[in-house]
Amino acid sequence: MKPLIVANWKMNPLTLKEAKSIFSSVKAGIKGIKNAEVVISPPFLYLAPLKSASSFLFAAQDAYWEDKGAFTGEISALMLKNAGCGYAIIGHSERRKYFHETDESVNKKIKAAVKTGLTPILCVGETQSEKERGETESVLRKEIASALENISDSEMEASKIVIAYEPVWAIGSGTPCSFDQAKSAAGLIRNIIRQKYPSLEVQKLRILYGGSVNGGNASGYIKEAGVNGLLIGGASLIPSEFVKIVESSV
Ligand code: PGA
Repeated sequence: MKPLIVANWKMNPLTLKEAKSIFSSVKAGIKGIKNAEVVISPPFLYLAPLKSASSFLFAAQDAYWEDKGAFTGEISALMLKNAGCGYAIIGHSERRKYFHETDESVNKKIKAAVKTGLTPILCVGETQSEKERGETESVLRKEIASALENISDSEMEASKIVIAYEPVWAIGSGTPCSFDQAKSAAGLIRNIIRQKYPSLEVQKLRILYGGSVNGGNASGYIKEAGVNGLLIGGASLIPSEFVKIVESSV
């Protein structure tokens, strides 16, 4: 399975010109690399202009569940699919923390993405205090169970849902999760999915790690922790660093 490397640009950069510049440097830097699936997730505003200039894979940073209508400020999963997106990041901890994303809205967004044919990248992970209280397993169980409520075995199989383990305390903190911890969280996620979807070939499920990944630690997550890819925030805006991450992951 090729590692899936997702660049989450979050609310960056400030201009389309800068976005195009980062994008073209990344494209040039990874040109010869065939054994990784690289996906760029820019702000919505830059999706169409970047997409029109290339056959690259793109992810949206969110997706609303209604197809269209009077929902000021929202962008639907269907619009994103029509605009050429292949993936949608759903339930990122920053959306949960700052934009009142709930387990229920995450579930509606996952269902909309699955129905539309966008591959959801579901983000789950514990906060620092949950970690200190030893609640990592219960948080992962709860977040996964609610996000995937009423998603059938066949939908799960067909949609190829990706799950990103993103411990909240590791995101943007410069304190990445140890390879051991990432390995055990990925194993736990695989078990939770195995229990919920006994007929699924769970080894085909792609589990990513995200949180303070950089050019120096990326290969450890893939090769030692055994995750199937990475979700990268800050380092994905620095083309040379991002290219290093992709190079060291294959
Ligand atoms: P980071 O963000 O790489 O800046 O820690 C990761 C993420 O939020 O997906």
